[in-house]
Amino acid sequence: MRLLLLLSALVGFAATQFGDCNPLKISGCPPDKGLTNSPYSVDFTKGTTDWASWTSIGTDSVLYTSQGAVLTINKKGEAPTIATNWYIFFGRVEVVMRAAPGTGIVSSVVLASDDGDEIDWEFLGGNNDEVQTNYFGKGNLTLYNRGGKTPVHDVQGTTHTYTIDWQMDQLTWSVDGNVVRTLKKEDALGGLNYPQTPMKLRIGSWAGGDPDNAPGTIAWAGGLTDYTKAPFTMYVEKVSVTNQNPAASYSYGDASGSWESIVLKKDDAAAAVGR
Ligand SMILES: *[C@@H]1O[C@H](CO)[C@@H](O)[C@H](O)[C@H]1NC(C)=O
Repeated sequence: MRLLLLLSALVGFAATQFGDCNPLKISGCPPDKGLTNSPYSVDFTKGTTDWASWTSIGTDSVLYTSQGAVLTINKKGEAPTIATNWYIFFGRVEVVMRAAPGTGIVSSVVLASDDGDEIDWEFLGGNNDEVQTNYFGKGNLTLYNRGGKTPVHDVQGTTHTYTIDWQMDQLTWSVDGNVVRTLKKEDALGGLNYPQTPMKLRIGSWAGGDPDNAPGTIAWAGGLTDYTKAPFTMYVEKVSVTNQNPAASYSYGDASGSWESIVLKKDDAAAAVGR
């Protein structure tokens, strides 16, 4: 039951947050811009607004203060999110942050590809002592037990470091330097459901408990969002990203969705991975 609920929650999120051309369904999608200056890091607590790297969506504006990037839901309909303008092709992503409070409010850190590969951290505002982990391959939402739950003390009041180490053979999620979950490629449906295409980073919060959402989504999010208790704020202090295969752009060589099909373009010379 929980899995079905989770499914509808993610479908809801995907429908509002993704607008990319899916290369497994449409031919001729534009190439993805790659992160070339790796390792990359930004300290939002210094008031940095790195517009070359980030786009804000789902909100009128994001404030950058000494507490970091301030992602606030003030009222219904807001889903403040910052997303990178570039993609990485395997690598490491570290986010130093505090999650938003509020029943039905979901804070998330998501790596997502154009064909539906996804690696997630999710925090429910009604639970201050837990983070959830999840992954998807090729948009396959047929779930059985992909989600994980990890106890973490005071995710809303205390700054923690959440790291995704995304390698070709395995993926780990770590909190404050301690690995809390490992996924081996072969354990994701023999590798088929393993995230393996270039991904963008998206950090933000949304109201999973909005009364207009599907009942399953509201239940997964922990209940109805009470907007009279707003503002609900998530703080992102620092983000560090290592791109394991830096390139000017990535494109899908075929509709398999496998890492072998990804074509890297470095300057002018096109080259396949590992060559
Ligand atoms: C989707 O994943 C499930 C298991 O998680 C699997 O049984 C099913 O075959 C997959 N579908 C596709 C199209 O790969």
